[in-house]
Amino acid sequence: MSSYDGKVVFVSGGTSGINLGIARRFAGEGAHVAVMSRSQDKVDAAVAELGEHAIGFAADVREPDAVAAALAATAERLGPIDVLISGAAGNFPAPAATMSSNAFRSVVDIDLNGTFNVMRGAYEHLRKPGAAIINITAFQSWSPTPFQAHVCAAKAGIDQLTRTLAMEWGPSGVRINSIAPGPIAGTEGMRRLAPTPEAEAATTAAVPLGRYGTTDDIAEAALWLCSDKAGYVTGTVLSVDGGLALGGSSALSSAIMA
Ligand code: HXC
Ligand code: NAP
Repeated sequence: MSSYDGKVVFVSGGTSGINLGIARRFAGEGAHVAVMSRSQDKVDAAVAELGEHAIGFAADVREPDAVAAALAATAERLGPIDVLISGAAGNFPAPAATMSSNAFRSVVDIDLNGTFNVMRGAYEHLRKPGAAIINITAFQSWSPTPFQAHVCAAKAGIDQLTRTLAMEWGPSGVRINSIAPGPIAGTEGMRRLAPTPEAEAATTAAVPLGRYGTTDDIAEAALWLCSDKAGYVTGTVLSVDGGLALGGSSALSSAIMA
């Protein structure tokens, strides 16, 4: 029997891409999974895929009351939350000189404020001691990347939330870490950042391991990081990026700016 059998997992933005990959992997281990995103259609499709114990909520992470209601309903229906994944995010490449204030604010609101809303709304429903939180950031959280000013700022903020709340909530037995994925194949993020075969080739060339990652690469890291095997790990940012961040993101920047 898996150690995740019957555990309660909540995934914000868990209806597509990397976050759905994580939700799928936990469900495969027997966890009871709740997903939340804006589109009711995407929520319904994800719940259908994730099996009989899955539930879902259509809510925007920028609305704290809606987020809190989804988390409260999860705890009421499934029990205390063992694993919280905050992964909802928005991104588009845009030069800062012409980006509107609203465009910058939209990404910061979804990524950073949304992550705070999810963490804050979850706190009272987390299993204590024992819960694990993972915030999904990106290599942009510390590697400056042209045309990604909004994402770089938002993801850096999330990693500071990870570290700060790891200190605040550690005494109640809650571990908090970030995962910073590199370029992941077949995702909306990479469709937006490297939409042409040329951009994809330049991105691949920037990765020391010479390939895009898979959603399974990220899900495996999440599975380990939330398990007792990582029971003394908190406040870290785990890069799962094929080594991309080691060399900075200069080649990736060229791909985005091409
Ligand atoms: C410049 C843009 C823009 C673009 C939107 N805006 N797209 N500006 N270039 N390509 C501007 C709009 O004109 C508007 O400003 C403001 O942003 C808000 O746009 P809305 O469409 O009204 O916002 P909203 O409906 O809230 O949608 C949020 C969004 C959207 C982020 C803009 O793209 C979205 O919903 N994305 C979710 C899916 C996604 O992005 N997945 C990828 C995640 S990958 P004005 O001034 O006109 O009002 C990721 C990191 C990946 O996060 C790292 C990969 C390596
Ligand atoms: P994706 O498929 O677009 O996933 C984003 C998810 O967030 C979707 O489920 C989306 O569903 C939801 N979402 C977006 N805005 C929301 C909002 N305001 N409120 C609630 N839910 C919202 O993108 P992805 O590429 O897999 O990215 C997933 C995560 O990995 C993100 O945190 C991203 O920053 C990170 N990441 C991705 C890559 C990559 O290579 N793709 C690399 C590094 C980091 P709805 O549209 O239904 O709301």
